[in-house]
Amino acid sequence: MIGAYQASSQARVDAALEQLFVAPSAELARLYEAMRYSVMNGGKRVRPLLAYAACQALGVAPEQANGAACAVELIHAYSLVHDDLPAMDDDDLRRGQPTTHKKFDEACAILAGDGLQSLAFGALLDTQLSPQSDTIRLQMVQALALAAGPAGMVGGQAIDLGSVGLKLDQKALEYMHRHKTGALIEASVKLGALASARATAADLAALQQYAQAIGLAFQVQDDILDVESDTETLGKRQGADIARDKPTYPALLGLEAAKAYALELRDQALTALQGFGEAAEPLRALARYIVERKN
Ligand code: IPE
Ligand code: IPE
Ligand code: MG
Ligand code: MG
Ligand code: MG
Repeated sequence: MIGAYQASSQARVDAALEQLFVAPSAELARLYEAMRYSVMNGGKRVRPLLAYAACQALGVAPEQANGAACAVELIHAYSLVHDDLPAMDDDDLRRGQPTTHKKFDEACAILAGDGLQSLAFGALLDTQLSPQSDTIRLQMVQALALAAGPAGMVGGQAIDLGSVGLKLDQKALEYMHRHKTGALIEASVKLGALASARATAADLAALQQYAQAIGLAFQVQDDILDVESDTETLGKRQGADIARDKPTYPALLGLEAAKAYALELRDQALTALQGFGEAAEPLRALARYIVERKN
């Protein structure tokens, strides 16, 4: 089920994203090319899928969440461009291709990331992509700003970089993962739900429980794949965490316990959706996919 759902959702978000990379003048062609390269180079589009699926879980057509889907993918793509820079993880390969700073140069990659972040907020304020009321659009902007910023993803990245070579305990590792990866995944679900314009407080609370569990599971699985996948399948260098002595779940718990933990988190996510009917099937499929994925 996830295969067909993923393909149709990817096509929908890619069509919306593609429109954002038209350079307004010849002088900006290279910057726009770098932004386009960083976004339109594959990627599983898990965060857009979550936004669409949350909107659908509340009985609304996924197209309503186009702005949300673009916004979360743009923030994600920017975070990857910066995460790969020499000053951060110093990686050469991303989505099976040279990282943005390798394909272009470092300054261009920094600016492309900065530009993508601005485009993300623009997508939530664009009336074509986000046809919601001003009130809802403000709620989406607020949720994304919180999740992407220093109290969310950027904070998590700061902790990640500050913990290289340190032995974090499980509480500290979980705190880092919930920020660097979990926050944007939670926001993806929340923005999709808000975009439906029919989310009740109870819906948002249940969806947050779901999203917190899969947000952590996603990074636990990312850590597991760094150990047991291969560079070709991953499209990024296998073993990069080990080489850099990054604190990860397999390093802390061992591989088998990390896998068991990912499955436990998946079950917590599925439990949080118990009050939802058939319409939440895509969200359920995504919870399973996140811990079964091979790349
Ligand atoms: C990788 O994210 C970075 C993490 C937050 C773990 P994804 O695994 O979603 O990467 P793409 O978008 O598919 O390349
Ligand atoms: C990346 O985490 C998290 C963000 C970019 C916010 P990782 O450093 O583990 O991601 P990969 O493994 O390079 O994709
Ligand atoms: Mg990193
Ligand atoms: Mg990295
Ligand atoms: Mg990783």
